[in-house]
Parts: sequence; structure tokens; C-alpha cells
Amino acid sequence: EKKITIAIDGFSSTGKSTLAKQLANHLGYVFVDTGAMYRAVTLFAMQNGYIAANFFDKETLINSLPFIKLVFKYNDALGHAEMYLNDENVENEIRKIEVSHFVSKVAEISEVRSKLVEQQQEMGKDKGIVMDGRDIGTVVFPDAELKIFMTASPATRAQRRYDELIAKGDSITFEEVLENVEERDYIDSHRKDSPLVMANDAVEIDNSYISRKEQFELVLDLVNEHT
Ligand code: C5P
Repeated sequence: EKKITIAIDGFSSTGKSTLAKQLANHLGYVFVDTGAMYRAVTLFAMQNGYIAANFFDKETLINSLPFIKLVFKYNDALGHAEMYLNDENVENEIRKIEVSHFVSKVAEISEVRSKLVEQQQEMGKDKGIVMDGRDIGTVVFPDAELKIFMTASPATRAQRRYDELIAKGDSITFEEVLENVEERDYIDSHRKDSPLVMANDAVEIDNSYISRKEQFELVLDLVNEHT
């Protein structure tokens, strides 16, 4: 059977990674969550004091890019890959709201994007990959055989992200999560370099009112049309 490239883009917290992971497991494909890479670069900037409330030394972050090593390592016990920043497992830290607050500002920087896009293209060069993010169908793999664009109402999305963070033991309010989701969507959609837009040839899925299972089956039918 022919291996293809599947690009999944869309707004924050639409369940892109959940769907991508499900598909990759089912098809025996590699799964790459590109948001984790932007989050890891953001964590690096925070750890080194390049970014904080009302402060962002972009120049120093850009000059430090050659010293940022990002690696996904598969964790057999968990059944998915985890993000390593300079050999340290940062999977938990990158998901925290502090990182979510700054990540879209870091993702606006062209030098950051070109470094990560190059690495993403390398990971997908043999196909058999499901990659999720904001610019996968438009910039990273414009020739992907299947492109999905996911949406859902902001309230639905914020509720999902809120439930996730609470389950992990974070103390946070629903309003804070909603505000972050809306702010990131705005910055991501309005930036100059690789803004979040639906590719012309993408299939749009609004999953406000369909279950994960229904969504999975719908996308699997699309995959079968291409393989
Ligand atoms: O997917 P996730 O919500 O973890 O992504 C975090 C942030 O990383 C996004 O809000 C966006 O600013 C940035 N991002 C991006 N391009 C991608 C993936 C993520 O700009 N391909």
C-alpha cells in the first residue's frame, strides 16, 4: 500500500494532535506534533531569560537558535513520542499555560520558523507521516496528499483545553484558558510569515458537534481514497 503525507492544521485546541496520533497509530505512520517544537523553543527562551512579561530579546533568541536541539523520542510505555530540548525531557513543561502565553510571539519570528520547517520537512521526506500544526498544508508540505483543516467554536475548544489542564493538576480558570485560545488564534492568523489559513485543497472539519470516533472514521475514509 502506498504511503502518503497527511497534514492537519487548524485553530488551537481543536483536537488536531489527538486525531493525528489516532491516525498514525492506525496506519503505522510517524506522528509529529509541530506545536511541541514551537513550545520547546519558547521554553528555551524563558529558561534563558530572553522572554518574560513585557520583555522579549528576539535578537538573542535568534542568535541562540543554533544551540537549540529538538528531538522527539518515542516512549514505549506511553505509546507516543516526547519532546526533548537539548537532551532534557520537556514534555510536561511545554504544555503549561506559561508557555502557551508566549508561544505565539515566538512563532512569529521567521528565523525560528525556517529552522523548524526545515527539520519538519526532513522528518517527512519518506512520507508515511501525520503532522499537525498551523502551516503544514500551506508551507511545510504543500504537496501533501491529504490536508485536513480543523475548527470548533472557541468555547468548545477552551472547555477541552481547560479539562485537560485541570486533569493534569494545573490551577487555572476557564476564562484564562479561553482568553489564551482566542489570543493565540488571533496572533497565529494575523502574522506575516506563514499565517494560519486553510489551504485551498484542504478538507474542513468542524468538530463542535461530532464525536472523536465519528471524526476518526470520517478522516479514515478520506485516507482510503488516497492510498
Ligand atoms: O499546536 P499547539 O497549540 O501546541 O501550538 C502552539 C503554538 O505554536 C501555536 O499557537 C502557534 O503559535 C505555534 N505553531 C505554529 N506553527 C505550527 C505549530 C504551532 O506557529 N506549525
